[in-house]
Amino acid sequence: MKARRIQFNKYGDASEMYMGEYELPQLKPDDVLIKVVAAAVNPLDWKQRQGAMKLFMNRQFPKGIGSDFAGIVQAVGRNVSNVQKGDKVFGTMDVKHPGAFAEALVTKSRYVVKKTSQVSFEEAACLPIAATTAWAALLGKKPVSSHSQVLINGCTGAVGLTAVQLAIAKGAKVAGTCSQTSMHRAKLLGVDPVFNYNDEGYQKKAEPVDLIFDTAGTMNIGHALSMLKPRGKFIDINPTAGRIIRGVLSGRYKIVFATMGTKHLPEIAKLAAHGLLKPEIGLRVSFSNAVETIRAIENGQRIAGKVVFTFSGESM
Ligand SMILES: NC(=O)c1ccc[n+]([C@@H]2O[C@H](COP(=O)([O-])OP(=O)(O)OC[C@H]3O[C@@H](n4cnc5c(N)ncnc54)[C@H](OP(=O)(O)O)[C@@H]3O)[C@@H](O)[C@H]2O)c1
Repeated sequence: MKARRIQFNKYGDASEMYMGEYELPQLKPDDVLIKVVAAAVNPLDWKQRQGAMKLFMNRQFPKGIGSDFAGIVQAVGRNVSNVQKGDKVFGTMDVKHPGAFAEALVTKSRYVVKKTSQVSFEEAACLPIAATTAWAALLGKKPVSSHSQVLINGCTGAVGLTAVQLAIAKGAKVAGTCSQTSMHRAKLLGVDPVFNYNDEGYQKKAEPVDLIFDTAGTMNIGHALSMLKPRGKFIDINPTAGRIIRGVLSGRYKIVFATMGTKHLPEIAKLAAHGLLKPEIGLRVSFSNAVETIRAIENGQRIAGKVVFTFSGESM
């Protein structure tokens, strides 16, 4: 079976992407075949195409691009029990094999969960990477609770907004930073106080917290540690080689990855069904215009909320 997808023949800049046709792989026992109804953009998509993740990816080209999707199951491998043909689902791709920006895809069943009717395909497609990352950051070994005070740097980005919603769902008190333009959105989410990240003095104004979650990768580690309560933790999701080593050695500074939270997709689906996790969609684009859209965002076009590609007439 063939399908159209966005792919690339070698690592490189945005000009390497094109809309092409590919042969879907044979289903292995743990695989599911999905007709995609919506797919959402993450910064990971262009980092993978640029080659920043090449150590973690397979060597085959052309490669697909895109991780997060929602769609309808067309077939399942013989070991699959969590979903069946006809189910409406959402999920993500294995980091080794991206390819969600496609009319149809094959992924492992453990990365897929059923979608309820309360959540649209478009909203569901926005959840996987943002929510599994926020889950790994906030609800890992020492989960936030109603006693926690949290500060989220970049609190209106995709991961930041999801982290705010998760922390509030657990009863935590949430402070955050964002640009001047996004301050109103942050306040509507329940973030209090909200600081402008360009206000250099904000770190002195913020009360000490139990957890700082830096979604933007802009905080100095020493400054962040000085803003914590004595047993507080600083969590980062934008690794560099130096920061990974520091994370391994430090008891208070940790790097987390989306993959650490994928086993929680069923709980994430439940929170979304109850309206406790609700992504903000900033732009809906037909799949035919996906290549130009990714190029524009990668080149700096700012969109408040997630960018979603739509594939067909399905809506709920
Ligand atoms: N480790 C992992 O597994 C993992 C998983 C997911 C994402 N990530 C990484 O995490 C980052 C965020 O991802 P995302 O999907 O949330 O991206 P996003 O939706 O583009 O959000 C980025 C946010 O960063 C904020 N920001 C920009 N400059 C800032 C600054 N100087 N200080 C504080 N905040 C600033 C922006 O706020 P304004 O719009 O208000 O300017 C925006 O809300 C990306 O680099 C991504 O690759 C890592």
